[in-house]
Amino acid sequence: MRIIECADYKSMSRRAAGIIAAQVVLKPECVLGLATGSTPVGAYGELVKWCGQGDLSFAGVRSVNLDEYLGLAPTHEQSYRRFMQENLFDHIDIVPENTHVLNGLAENPETECAQYDELIASLGGIDLQLLGMGHNGHIAFNEPGDDFGLGTHVVSLSERTIDANQRFFASRDEVPRHALSMGIKSIMGARKILVVVSGADKADALCRAVSGPVTNEVPASVLQLHPDVTIVADSAALSVLKAGESR
Ligand code: GLP
Repeated sequence: MRIIECADYKSMSRRAAGIIAAQVVLKPECVLGLATGSTPVGAYGELVKWCGQGDLSFAGVRSVNLDEYLGLAPTHEQSYRRFMQENLFDHIDIVPENTHVLNGLAENPETECAQYDELIASLGGIDLQLLGMGHNGHIAFNEPGDDFGLGTHVVSLSERTIDANQRFFASRDEVPRHALSMGIKSIMGARKILVVVSGADKADALCRAVSGPVTNEVPASVLQLHPDVTIVADSAALSVLKAGESR
């Protein structure tokens, strides 16, 4: 596991974008696993900029997103499909049909999940999976206690995640209680994993994920078992880990 420390959110975003760009340059037809949440927004902004300048092309890239709220239409303001359109897809030269996000309105969510795992396999697997991390160490929507052996599945969101995500909705009641999410097994199948973490409020979870025991109580701790993980974090997010190392 490589940990790259950056001074602040902006430099973390640039560094993460550089790693994604390197993947696209080295393998223009790669499969990118993409993430939502506020943390990757800055990195997406850099990619949009480089693409606009003609320095990078996503014309051959295929993408699969980690998760989607159950019950939200792709056009809903807070759907992850819309997030991806607004923060990345609408501003780069990726072919729309090559972007894949789980359908939150699927008639049969279980079938949607099974088909998503088949889709990932048919694309040849994920070359680079981008991840953010929740305050409780969740990755995608794999909450503490979830089974590490699961592929894409329907999840119940934890109270802490509902609290954290209510800032995007008019009220807490409007936050969906369920989501479709790639599982830990699907994520661990990616050839490379890139994690972005920012802010002191994530420092405790990051420390537990990186230096604590591998346990499904801290879903991100499973990444210790993956052979190619890069964490790009700002100094605030690394503060608890570094305080432990200097003790
Ligand atoms: C949501 C997403 C995760 C994301 C997490 C953290 O729960 N499903 O993929 O990593 O939020 O989001 P943020 O980056 O806004 O802190």
